[in-house]
Amino acid sequence: MSFSRDISSPARSRHAIPPSGTKPAPACTLVIFGARGDLTKRLLIPALYNLAGSSLLDADFRVLGVDRVPGTAADWRDGLAATMQDFTKDPDGEFYTPTIDQDAWNWVADRLDYVQADFADLGQMRALAERVKGNAVFYLAVPSRFFGPLVEMLGQAGLVTQQEGVFRRVVIEKPFGSDLATARALNRQVLSVLDEQQVYRIDHFLGKETVQNILAMRFGNLIFEPLWRSDYIDHVQITAAETIGVEQRGAFYEPTGALRDMVPNHLFQLFAMVAMEPPASFSAETVRTAKEQLFESVRPVRPEDAVRGQYRAGTVEGRPVVAYRAAPGVAPDSVTETYVALKLHVDNWRWSGVPFYLRTGKSLGGRRTEVVVQFKKPPVAIFRGTATDSLPPNRMILNVQPAQGLTIEMAAKHPGPAMDLAGVQVKFRYEDAFELQPNVGYETLLYDCLTGDATLFQRADNIDAAWAAVDPVLQSWGQGAEGLEFYDAGVTGPAGADALLARDGRAWYPLDGT
Ligand code: BG6
Repeated sequence: MSFSRDISSPARSRHAIPPSGTKPAPACTLVIFGARGDLTKRLLIPALYNLAGSSLLDADFRVLGVDRVPGTAADWRDGLAATMQDFTKDPDGEFYTPTIDQDAWNWVADRLDYVQADFADLGQMRALAERVKGNAVFYLAVPSRFFGPLVEMLGQAGLVTQQEGVFRRVVIEKPFGSDLATARALNRQVLSVLDEQQVYRIDHFLGKETVQNILAMRFGNLIFEPLWRSDYIDHVQITAAETIGVEQRGAFYEPTGALRDMVPNHLFQLFAMVAMEPPASFSAETVRTAKEQLFESVRPVRPEDAVRGQYRAGTVEGRPVVAYRAAPGVAPDSVTETYVALKLHVDNWRWSGVPFYLRTGKSLGGRRTEVVVQFKKPPVAIFRGTATDSLPPNRMILNVQPAQGLTIEMAAKHPGPAMDLAGVQVKFRYEDAFELQPNVGYETLLYDCLTGDATLFQRADNIDAAWAAVDPVLQSWGQGAEGLEFYDAGVTGPAGADALLARDGRAWYPLDGT
């Protein structure tokens, strides 16, 4: 992560990330396990293409795809080229680009190689070791049950032994464990082979510009941070509402559910950006220590402060949606939650008494990821005897997606002879200030890993502390259905989620608006 952009002149380069002035990453082989999978073609390869277009990869950069699927480098390349072309056809897709820059694509394609191998076969892994010389990053784009065994095989095959001036790093996707005990066990297994400095536990939310911008906004301006505390803030809401359902991911989602899928990872990253103390620098250890101090101040969530729901059939944005239980790979009597809301208490000086409400769900009526910081109400005495008898609270809404920017809700005088106030919004939109280039959100993360900057990656203790906070809820839910509520696809969530806030005299920020 770099904050070197000249703020007096917004970047206008063709590829806007990472910031202009950043040097190409050192020569390296990126070995992707799970090369034929979805993550590789949808996210990793387009991210490399974007980095190549920004001249941020070294001429000696190479990609070695590894998978059990038989095939050649040529057919792997062809398949990836076809997927790249598909990105030009879907303006609503998550990575839409009107054209593919053929020079940038050829640059990447010339560096793609493929090997059919089974990581469980030590002989094949040793053969792989013969092909990988010099710096290497191993990207584990495989199902989570393989993370531990694959790291062990990397160790046994001698692939992760570092020498003077030569790095070997491993990128591990989420989910990292499925509760506190399994995450701890996986960390132990990984750290029996690798040093913590070699491990890059990825959370793609941290690759989002708007998530990183929360830190820039908080610590790069004077006007917010002095108010950023319990003296002025009433509560904070963190929302990741999705309109998509479980789609074809039933087999993954059934044992996972909304809490494990989104909360200790993605929502906790947003929470960390909003709530952590100012780090002394953006160095990896300083930032990750600041996060750790926050996570350790979170009181383990009481089961009565958590609500779970599952969607029934309904209509989302005009489309009929089948019930979660009718989705492929889902048990007809499944008790897996597709929605979770919970309340966090932070026992530290800054946040004592300020609840953080988190919610996330699938097949909801609106798609938006955002943080709403609601301030306390100002005293109204001066407006007594006027048309204004109560004032709306100020709110700051950090819009992560699909809107990208910042909205401030405040009061202004309604024009006319009477002293009457109206709520108004002040908006900053990323696209108004910067020329945004299509990106998949993995560009910065890959670049940072290649350059050895772990600021945006999770340290073992961060993972541990986030799971510890939600573990009482996971344990109390167990396999049972107690408290599971059903909601129609297309609404804002189960009734219990509204009740969670109503009980504190509060309400969720609407899923439409801003
Ligand atoms: C993934 C989850 O990690 O994040 C998905 O497994 C979820 O269930 C996705 O839909 C959300 O990410 P984004 O970037 O689309 O907000």
